[in-house]
Amino acid sequence: MEVVIVPDAKAGGELIAEAMAKLLGRKPDAVLGVATGSTPLPVYEALTAKVRSGAVDVSRARIAQLDEYVGLPAAHPESYRSVLRREVLEPLGIGMDAFLGPDGEAADVRAACEAYDRALAAAGGVDLQLLGIGTDGHIGFNEPCSSLASRTRIKTLTEQTRVDNARFFDGDVEQVPHHVITQGIGTILEARHLVLLATGEGKADAVAATVEGPVAAVCPASALQLHPHATVVVDEAAASKLK
Ligand code: F6R
Repeated sequence: MEVVIVPDAKAGGELIAEAMAKLLGRKPDAVLGVATGSTPLPVYEALTAKVRSGAVDVSRARIAQLDEYVGLPAAHPESYRSVLRREVLEPLGIGMDAFLGPDGEAADVRAACEAYDRALAAAGGVDLQLLGIGTDGHIGFNEPCSSLASRTRIKTLTEQTRVDNARFFDGDVEQVPHHVITQGIGTILEARHLVLLATGEGKADAVAATVEGPVAAVCPASALQLHPHATVVVDEAAASKLK
């Protein structure tokens, strides 16, 4: 695992956007795995700037979703499909035909999860998976004690994560769904390059457990230690508890 400490979130965004640009330069139809939440926004902004300046061509790129709320209509502004359309696809000028994601409204959620794993494999797998990290060490929505070998499946959010995400639902935790579909940790580990971005002091404990703790299901992100090509990009605040 490589750990890169950057001065701030903007520098982290630039660094990761540059890695994405290089990937697309050598593989124009690369599959970029994207996360939602606040942390990746500087990456998407930096990549959008590169696309607009002509420095990178995303016309053949494909975008794969990491996780989705269950039961929230796809058209709801906070469904992750809507969020990614707004924050990633539209700014980059990528159409929904190049988007891969699980169906959070499926009547048979289990079948939808299996179908998504099959779709990822059929697309040739994820080339670069961008990850954020929860204050409890979750990646995707693999909460603590998720199996490190897990596949895409339905999970129940912890109360802490629902409270953390209430800010996207008018601050009202009651509006945050209880269930999600998430790529499993085993699924995530199949991406060719994992890039985790963590910024802010609130992530410092989770980053220390990820990088310096044992590989353990209590800190799902520690599974990155098992990956042959994992990069953890942290700002100084998020790095502050590293030894
Ligand atoms: C969301 C996701 C989550 C977030 C994590 C951190 O797609 O994968 O694991 O990355 O909850 O969220 P932020 O970045 O908002 O602190």
